[in-house]
Amino acid sequence: MYILGIESSCDETSMSIIKDGTEEIATVVLSQMDTHAYYGGVVPEIASRMHVENITIVLEEVLNKANMTMDDIDAIGVTFGPGLIGSLLIGLMCAKTLSFVFDKPLIPVHHIAGHIYANNLVKRLEFPLMALVVSGGHTELVYMKEDYSFEVIGSTLDDAVGEAYDKVARVAGLPYPGGPLVDKLALEGKDTYKLPLPLDDDSFNFSFSGLKSAVINLVHNEKQRGNDIIKENLCCSFQNRVVEILSKKTIRALKKYDVHNLIVAGGVAANKGLRNKLEDECEKNDINLIIPEIKYCTDNGAMIGAAGYYAYEKGNLADLNLNAKATVPLK
Ligand code: KG4
Ligand code: ZN
Repeated sequence: MYILGIESSCDETSMSIIKDGTEEIATVVLSQMDTHAYYGGVVPEIASRMHVENITIVLEEVLNKANMTMDDIDAIGVTFGPGLIGSLLIGLMCAKTLSFVFDKPLIPVHHIAGHIYANNLVKRLEFPLMALVVSGGHTELVYMKEDYSFEVIGSTLDDAVGEAYDKVARVAGLPYPGGPLVDKLALEGKDTYKLPLPLDDDSFNFSFSGLKSAVINLVHNEKQRGNDIIKENLCCSFQNRVVEILSKKTIRALKKYDVHNLIVAGGVAANKGLRNKLEDECEKNDINLIIPEIKYCTDNGAMIGAAGYYAYEKGNLADLNLNAKATVPLK
């Protein structure tokens, strides 16, 4: 079964053709990163306009790349939420139009389900599993006992982890998106700045705004005293607290739910500090760890095509009344 996966929830216009939820036939990703970097973050109105300009080009290119036509496609999977409402609507309108004109089933895909199923393109998921979803908009621990069954056991109470990375990067004077740069500098620095371990409690929830504020206050105080900030050390100290709390709660969740498979998903899954720490912890605790290649960590149509297959198998279909949702729980 060939699914056309469409993703436009933020600043990437992407489509992919995926066979049977596991095999990537072709993918096209048109990123708007350079435009938004100029403003220091994603500007929603500009994002939607650029999706309008790009979406038909992406469709044509993905079909060309796969050497296919719409007749070869069996169904259309599309991100319907969560995300920027204007951006979501462009991908969704495209999906609904294709579904109507070519008479193909329409599969609504939750963006986070997509991030999780990106791993299915690397290796078939084994259940039960725990997914740590870490991105610019999400920080969630999701328990899955079988395909397309999601139980969110913990999430962030405030900032998402990627958001905290981007804000810390900004106070450190690094360009947007700062996450990858903070990661790079962290690996060159030492853990010298005293920062709190955030929300170190018995729950599986996370909180990053306190840690972010601690970094901002530290930078301001040092500036007032006329001291220079050692960026590498600041990034290292921040990253160590983030990685420590993420891995501590994830390992505890795996033990509590008696799960031996861990997958990491979302843009922050690219973080080397997090990868290294989880590799060590999983080895110690006899847990199979899967982290996708970097190209599958950030937003793409392939993850939507992969998730769409399992949504379809569960009978998860929509009609042309399907609407985009800026926020929507994963279930
Ligand atoms: O999943 P994604 O592409 O978009 C969302 O759905 O949010 O994630 C983007 C986020 C950004 O906040 C970016 O700074 C962060 O992932 N990110 C990283 C790294 N690479 C990307 N954060 C920390 N370390 C990295 N290496
Ligand atoms: Zn994402």
